[in-house]
Amino acid sequence: MSTNIAVLGAQWGDEGKGKIVDLLTPHFSTVARYQGGHNAGHTVYVDGRKFVLHLIPSGILHPGVTCIIGNGVVVDPQALFKEVDDLARMGVDVNGRLLISEKAHLILPYHRELDVLSEARRGERKIGTTSRGIGPAYEDKIGRRGIRVCDLLGDRDALADDVRENVSARNRIIKETTLDWKPVYEQLLAFGERMRPWVGDVSLFLSRTMAEGKRVMFEGAQATLLDIDHGTYPFVTSSNASVGGVCTGLGVPPRAIRGVLGVAKAYTTRVGEGPLPTELSGELAERLRESGQEYGASTGRPRRCGWYDAVVVRYSARINGIDALALTKLDVLDGLPDVKICVGYRTTNGTLDEFPADLRALAAAEPCYETLPGWSRPTKGATRVDQLPLEAQRYIRRLEEVSGVECAIVSTGSDRTETIVKPDSVVARWID
Ligand code: IMP
Repeated sequence: MSTNIAVLGAQWGDEGKGKIVDLLTPHFSTVARYQGGHNAGHTVYVDGRKFVLHLIPSGILHPGVTCIIGNGVVVDPQALFKEVDDLARMGVDVNGRLLISEKAHLILPYHRELDVLSEARRGERKIGTTSRGIGPAYEDKIGRRGIRVCDLLGDRDALADDVRENVSARNRIIKETTLDWKPVYEQLLAFGERMRPWVGDVSLFLSRTMAEGKRVMFEGAQATLLDIDHGTYPFVTSSNASVGGVCTGLGVPPRAIRGVLGVAKAYTTRVGEGPLPTELSGELAERLRESGQEYGASTGRPRRCGWYDAVVVRYSARINGIDALALTKLDVLDGLPDVKICVGYRTTNGTLDEFPADLRALAAAEPCYETLPGWSRPTKGATRVDQLPLEAQRYIRRLEEVSGVECAIVSTGSDRTETIVKPDSVVARWID
């Protein structure tokens, strides 16, 4: 059995998964996305050039690697074409290396409108979505009226019926404007023609790839705390970003996943609304935001910043069976006089060690911090643990103890080369 691994976010997203996936890709034949849509934004720097990917796995930047968009992903054809065209302009050809599941659901042109409207109607209780139409597309999927990629390539009359029905449902929700179904239908047919060469049976492809002993990496988008079931509901995305999404979102059996790498930042960030127990404000938050360039890769929104929360990462480790962590952006903490780790939450009923389901309990919880000395010598660019200042080594060790997982990878800068992979770690064995 080949060593297939899942790489997923252990916090609220934007942990730097793109860089980690990119770093590990040379050891894999295939990289497969299993959920989410173009709400994700993976920024990868290669030889000083910046690539921002939303829908296509960042594995595409490696010649010869096949990239998969699974049935669990919702695909906006226009966003897909833009990404394909942008990549082509940067000299990356996706043809022959991109496979999109015929079962993937589509984000239709008016799903964006519905997303914006739904947020406006929620008023104060808005989620802070990326306005990409992700939620409405998944609503149609679960409501059993969604349109799938294969529907664009099959019976045209059946598609016309589906589009007519969907558009009239949209018109019942948005009464101010009436959308005509015919142009939507014609646009979808054109989308289907352009997508046709990339469409296929993802489950079958993966099954054959794994049977040949080739390695597959399952790439998560968003993160565990944004998972529709296990995240801070309702302030979540509409898919299963945690490891369960791999099986349902690609059509692979659980035993195909031989290892799980959780990606966590050396601190915590979140975009959009919802609780963030260790959130900082003022100068320190600003300092982290500026040196970590904490602005959304998809929307440009400033990210909320806070200290590392071990309760969150412990919870993620349990939900996903995380074998090891990739700790990212350690260098952003360089120069701080001290650094804090949240090890539990204080509530009126005592201390909470486990992440609560009830957001009111979470909102009322105060983080319990351990304070450790910071480091003045930079960690930036370090490639070995012994190059790190002793205080930074101590921070990582304590973070491992309270999170209950080893940091097998430590990222010390945005470039591929600015990375420590511990030689005796489980990750080193996976890619051996
Ligand atoms: P949606 O996925 O656009 O519906 O947004 C739902 C929530 O997930 C919002 O809080 C978004 O900010 C958040 N979200 C969605 N995609 C990402 C991502 O790639 N990184 C971080 N947060 C995200």
